[in-house]
Amino acid sequence: MMENVDAESEECISVEKPASLEEGARAIVAEADTARKVELAYATSRAWFRRELSLRRGSGPLAMPDRPGRPDKPVLLPPRDMPRRSVGGEAGRIALVHSLAHIELNAVDLTWDLIGRFAHAKMPRSYFDDWVQVGLEEAKHFSLLERRLEDLDSHYGALPAHDGLWQAAQATGHDLAARLAIIPLVLEARGLDITPGMIEKSGALGDTQTASILEIIYRDEKRHVAFGAKWFRYICDRQGLKPESRFQQLVRTHFKGGLKPPFNDRARSEAGLTPGFYRPLVRLVG
Ligand SMILES: [Fe+2]
Ligand SMILES: [Fe+2]
Repeated sequence: MMENVDAESEECISVEKPASLEEGARAIVAEADTARKVELAYATSRAWFRRELSLRRGSGPLAMPDRPGRPDKPVLLPPRDMPRRSVGGEAGRIALVHSLAHIELNAVDLTWDLIGRFAHAKMPRSYFDDWVQVGLEEAKHFSLLERRLEDLDSHYGALPAHDGLWQAAQATGHDLAARLAIIPLVLEARGLDITPGMIEKSGALGDTQTASILEIIYRDEKRHVAFGAKWFRYICDRQGLKPESRFQQLVRTHFKGGLKPPFNDRARSEAGLTPGFYRPLVRLVG
């Protein structure tokens, strides 16, 4: 996959290699231009996997931006002010792909924020490898959807987008276990529940190109949830805590929305997120 990224990057703008993984992560989150943000994510991942980057420099952590850099458009609205999305025809396709692109752009920032904010956590190198891989794949997902919007004669920024996702990051900025519980194990796991239906629907409406992008995203996201489950268990084991009950405690504290069935139990379990983690949280709904 790294070769693909290399090939794709050749036509793109060039960016400087960061001084450390931590600095690279901060630059990615801070960057407002989406093309540069993606390119920085590719360059940082490439340098990390070639073992050309140190994890961090200096003794103290770098301050991460409070909010990610974003372009002027799309206009960001509170979720309740979002216009109802058209579902049919070309406008419906564009609205769906636009909202997915926005989610993936948030995923880019959330993942690199995780890498940068917790670069001083005492975690093995393979932990950082896993999240750099995720950060690279989120940038790829955004690019695929952005290109799809262009094929549909639109672009990212053409429609308003909602402003709710970053709040999850702010609420868990102090605690790595809380961050892993909320981002991969609640939000990305939710993606596993709803993506198969979207793939089917896009295919049924004849939009096979969007369906194949969603297939790629679904395959990658299963691994992201698996990384979340693995490292969440690792931290709980180290602290002598039972992962299921710790997860439930953290979700009750940091995630207000409640968990909504139906769950894709099979995909979740394949990723190591077995029902004992999330079933007891269903009663939060309502
Ligand atoms: Fe993604
Ligand atoms: Fe993901």
